[in-house]
Amino acid sequence: MVGYDTSDDACVYKITEEIAAIHTVDFFTPIVDDPYLFGQIAAANALSDVYAMGGRPAVAMNLLCVPNCLSLETVHQILLGGHDKAVEAGCAIAGGHTIQDQEPKYGMCVTGYVHPDKVLRNVGAEPGDVLVLTKPIGTGVITTGAKADMVSREDYDAATASMAALNRTAGELVQECSHVHACTDITGFGLLGHAYEMASGSGVTACLFSADIPLLNGAKELAEMGIIPAGAYRNMDYVKPSLFVDPSVSRVLVDLAADPQTSGGLLVSLPRKESEHLIQRLHAASQTGAIVGEIVPNQGHSVAIL
Ligand code: CO
Ligand code: CO
Repeated sequence: MVGYDTSDDACVYKITEEIAAIHTVDFFTPIVDDPYLFGQIAAANALSDVYAMGGRPAVAMNLLCVPNCLSLETVHQILLGGHDKAVEAGCAIAGGHTIQDQEPKYGMCVTGYVHPDKVLRNVGAEPGDVLVLTKPIGTGVITTGAKADMVSREDYDAATASMAALNRTAGELVQECSHVHACTDITGFGLLGHAYEMASGSGVTACLFSADIPLLNGAKELAEMGIIPAGAYRNMDYVKPSLFVDPSVSRVLVDLAADPQTSGGLLVSLPRKESEHLIQRLHAASQTGAIVGEIVPNQGHSVAIL
């Protein structure tokens, strides 16, 4: 049902009239020093694509690369972090594969399920929709700043907690909406890149409201000091040919929109009327829920930052 032509979050394969399987895989090198936390973040990130497709994860397989120098206890902590996230997601871990490699890497291959009529794609956004985001932006900037010891303990903990948080609650609340047009999760392409994929694939323009984008504490200050990960510039170059930036928007907010996220939130395109209900329910469940933009008829560019 869904392949790779629109850079969607996962592939979807219809099994019966009632059931479609969602398949996705993701793994990466450690972005935090704590092995247990790394395991949690890598698992939350891998599971996220299932939620972005409107599904629920069912079975996962571990993918692990370990250098010889890594202690058994460290390896155990990584796997425990992944295990605990899978349990939280109600997803079984059915095995996996480990190889030796110079740099540690961890992630999961996840299978989930969705009703074939309830698949949420990253395209299908319509004029009149608003864009709702369910986690704050800034994990790329914060983890880059942390490498240079420029992030307070408090801000760092908040950023890592956000990355380790499942998109489960947000995903379930989105599934309860009767009229969602498009949904994706924000990861390496940043809010800007994923909004671009959604808008260009839908043949519309996404207008991002720069002042309304929720940011992790400390992210704006770091961006103002020029602490921007290289990936943000790659995202900007990717979107630039189809981007309009209003002259009144500060450079820092544009950089943050392009900041690559690890295990970011869901970006949901749905009619404005329906969004109020979703945001209320997100807030009631202690989740972030912010209108960060709107969809308008095609203006000749895919994304505008206002
Ligand atoms: Co995704
Ligand atoms: Co509709």
